[in-house]
Amino acid sequence: MVGRICGTGSSIPSKIVENDDLAKIVDTNDEWIRERTGIARRHIADTETTSSLAADAAKKALENAGMSAEEIDLILVATISSDKVFPCTACEVQKNIGAVNATCFDLGGAACSGFVFAYNTAQMYIAGGMYKNILVIGAENLSNLVDWTDRGTCILFGDGAGAAVVSAVSDGMFFASTHSDGEKGVAMECESRCQKNWKEKCQGNDTCMKMDGRAVFQFAVRKVPEVIKETLEKAGLDLQDVDYFVLHQANRRIVESVAKRLKIDVEKFPTNIEQYGNTSAASIPILLDEMNRDGRLKKGQTIVMAGFGAGLSWGATVIKW
Ligand code: UT7
Repeated sequence: MVGRICGTGSSIPSKIVENDDLAKIVDTNDEWIRERTGIARRHIADTETTSSLAADAAKKALENAGMSAEEIDLILVATISSDKVFPCTACEVQKNIGAVNATCFDLGGAACSGFVFAYNTAQMYIAGGMYKNILVIGAENLSNLVDWTDRGTCILFGDGAGAAVVSAVSDGMFFASTHSDGEKGVAMECESRCQKNWKEKCQGNDTCMKMDGRAVFQFAVRKVPEVIKETLEKAGLDLQDVDYFVLHQANRRIVESVAKRLKIDVEKFPTNIEQYGNTSAASIPILLDEMNRDGRLKKGQTIVMAGFGAGLSWGATVIKW
């Protein structure tokens, strides 16, 4: 058996922060942010939490799939910004939506590759026959990890969640490639408060994300085309066979550069980064949900999803819609 996405949902915080709002707190401006990243605004959690966004996205995905919460047997949440160290966000979602028959765990640390890695994990559970209906969720509250005095990072990120119901079918398609390079992990990191001794904690040492933006940019534009080609080769498909390339939304220039390197019309690389910024593990399922609901995705299409980010980590998956 292979998994097929049979429903999607997403949830976005109501508070919108425009580029001009950020220009009041750090030395930046709307023109720089739009030109260098493609971002115009982002949504920031105010009353929402990672688990409330995840649960809301999950409910919408179940409704879209025409499935009840009781039918779900695994909830997998990809996140680097869980509300609590434990219990996991997936258990919080279970409680919220009443998925009483589900096993729940989070896939942390895969960051912006998180949704692709979680989707692949779901496929392996389906292939092994252990579970049939799996909720795969990417959910982030990155505004809690951002250093709001660092203009190099704070302009990039936003909050939100996206979910997909992946169900066992006999006619699905699944081919994937994933990679990690821990040697280069320093390019993007965020220390845990658990690492600090009590004295440092009392002094409020910073545990915000730090990033060498240029290094991450260069890594992404080199590795994403490679992993897409590697995955399509496994599937016996050509680049031209793909209807859409749904990439992690980190920077519009990264998406354009990947399209250019693959020599594929950029129209096949949808983006929504203008509205949401980089929502890490949530960016791919939010974009998929938008495309599903506005009718761009049609049964039988071939879609490539590709994630990349902290670890460093990167991966791609080819699916039939
Ligand atoms: O999800 C995966 C994780 N992250 C990423 O994918 C991020 C990948 N990297 C990027 O998207 C880009 O590298 C950034 C958007 C972060 C930065 O863009 P860049 O074109 O690589 O700019 P830069 O870091 O090379 O900086 C160029 C200049 C610098 O000034 P000088 O040294 O030329 O005088 C920066 O200090 O722009 C300056 N700068 C800014 N200016 C206005 C950096 N951030 C800002 C800012 N506003 N927010």
